[in-house]
Parts: sequence; C-alpha cells; structure tokens
Amino acid sequence: MQAETVLVIGANGQIGTVLAQALRGVYGENNVIASDLRPPAEDQGLFEILDVLDGARLLDIVQRYKVSQIYHLAAILSAKGEQDPKRAWEINMSSLFNVLEIAKDYKLRVFFPSSIAVYGAHTPRENTPQFTIREPSTVYGISKVAGENWCNYYHLRYGLDVRSIRYPGIIGYQSLPGGGTTDYAVDIYHKAVQGQPFECFLSADTMLPMLYMDDAIRATLELMFTDPDKIQVRTSYNLAGMSFSPAEVAASIQKHIPDFSISYKPDFRQAIADSWPQSIDDSKAREEWGWKPRFDLEGMTVDMLLHLRTQYGMTNYE
Ligand code: NAD
Ligand code: SER
Repeated sequence: MQAETVLVIGANGQIGTVLAQALRGVYGENNVIASDLRPPAEDQGLFEILDVLDGARLLDIVQRYKVSQIYHLAAILSAKGEQDPKRAWEINMSSLFNVLEIAKDYKLRVFFPSSIAVYGAHTPRENTPQFTIREPSTVYGISKVAGENWCNYYHLRYGLDVRSIRYPGIIGYQSLPGGGTTDYAVDIYHKAVQGQPFECFLSADTMLPMLYMDDAIRATLELMFTDPDKIQVRTSYNLAGMSFSPAEVAASIQKHIPDFSISYKPDFRQAIADSWPQSIDDSKAREEWGWKPRFDLEGMTVDMLLHLRTQYGMTNYE
C-alpha cells in the first residue's frame, strides 16, 4: 500500500466515526487525522479541531501533516438544512470550495459524498439512472448537485483526482445520524432493542434506497483504491444496497422481536422522501470499479440487532 496521510473532515458524524476507524486500519493510526468542530466523545487517534469554513486552518493542517487525501464529510443534511437554508448552503458550499482549492494546489485526492437527494420530482423514481434529471427540492440536494458539478469541473479543468458516491440512506449501529430524512431507519432499531414502540415520521409505504454502514464504508474505500483511469464518472456514482419502506423494516424487526410496534405520524420530511428515488441503478459503479453490496434487509436486521443488544448490555436474549 502506497504511503498516504489522510484527513477526515466531519469525522465525528454518523459516517465519519466509522470511516475514520476503517482508514486507521488501512493506513495506520499515525497516518489518519480525524477533524471536526469539537473533540470526539471517545479518544480514538490523531484529532484536530477544524471548522472547515476556516480555510487558513485547513491549509495549516494539510501542510503540517503533509496530507495526501481528504475525505470531506462535513455537511448539513436534508432535514436540518430546511431549518436554515442559507446557512446550509453556506456550510455545504464554502467548505467544499476550501477543500477543492487546497486539493488543487497540493494535488490531493478527494472524496466528496453526494446523495440520492440530488434527485427530485421530475426524476424517474424507480431504478433511477446514473445520468438523469437532477432538480432537487431541498437546499441540501441543491448543494449536492452543485458540489458534484464543481468536483467534475475541478477534475476537467485542473486534473483534480476527486471521487464521489451518491449515498442512499446509511444505516449502522456504530453511530447516530445527524439530521437526515432517512434517520428513522437507524432510530427504529434503537427503539426496538430497548423494547419501546416507534413513531415514524414517514408513512408506512414510503420506499427509499438504503445501504448498510459496512457496505457504505467498503464502497468508499473501494472507490478510493481504484485506478484513476477506470473512474469515468467525476460528478458522483449512483450506489444501491437495498430499498424498503418503514412497514417493511418494522416487519423485518418483528421476525426477531414480535412485540415491537410502530405507528406513523408523517411530518415535513414526508415531502422530501416523496421527491427522492425508490430504487437506484448503480450499474456504472458495478462496471467501473466492481461495486457489489453484501447486505440485504434481513442480513442488516440480524446484524443491527446483534450489535445493538450488545451495546445496550443485553446479553441474555433468544
Ligand atoms: P453527520 O451530520 O452525522 O456528520 C457531519 C459532521 O460534520 C458532524 O460531526 C459535524 O460536527 C461536522 N461539521 C458540520 N459542520 C462542520 C464544519 N463547518 N467544519 C467541520 N465539521 C463540520 O453526517 P453524516 O451522516 O456522517 O454524513 C457525512 C456526509 O455523507 C455528508 O456530506 C452527507 O451529506 C453525506 N451523506 C450521508 C448520508 C447518510 O445517510 N448519513 C447519505 C447521503 C450522503
Ligand atoms: N440520508 C441523507 C438524508 O436523509 C441522504 O443524503 O439527508
């Protein structure tokens, strides 16, 4: 493995917590710098306080550690973004420009996570193609479309090696989500394991694309390891894992916890979910860098329940 020094921005978040740990396993403890607005709850390795809107501080970290790759995860997600759209735009876009500019000057490899939120009401919702209409209805989605296009621009104009995945909703036991429309699919498992009923903010039949955290991390690393010549998409790759509705994930949990109950009280997030795809065509990712998911809904439920029961200290269960 080539010597690399990796900076993870937004490392305390749902994905960053797990990705930083995986990167430490690949590159070694001393070659991964986690960064975020505040120190992490648990000390896990090299860490720097970084507000990525502060370009001078980002530059200082890149120079000091001789960073060669940046995973830029910091963002305001779909639901939270609607509370203060201008602030979400400012954070999501200015942070990306700071990363792209420094990456251009220092010839760094960049990972930029995009989202199914780039799609909107005019996009085909089933088996959504790689290249199709991107007219999102949220400020988050608008920032991700613009971000994808700026990544592509920096690649075409400056030869920047920037890579990106349009993540579906990410579900994992390791960390909690930070303000998205797909967050229910994590919260539901926590409630089920604690023996509590769950009130869902989406309707029973709202089908959305989702991906288990283990698959998401593996996809990210596989994309970043791929030979640059094989990567033809420099906006962002569609990526699929599974698709399910709240009623289906509840039924999957009830196979293991028969008493678990769910009720539905849709709120403003319903309109966001209704504007997103129900399933994704990820054939470009499969063809160009060999993507293949490992977890389906049932496999994910078994793994989530196993880990969460351990986390909540429940050792004597069936
Ligand atoms: P999250 O909200 O859990 O974490 C984001 C992290 O960024 C937080 O720890 C926050 O403190 C940090 N952050 C916010 N503003 C910052 C700033 N100015 N400077 C430095 N750090 C800052 O998000 P996540 O779910 O881990 O998502 C990571 C990335 O993946 C985001 O870009 C998101 O859009 C994308 N994504 C996530 C999902 C998902 O389901 N989780 C799906 C699609 C795309
Ligand atoms: N899971 C994310 C959200 O709901 C999608 O990008 O915002």
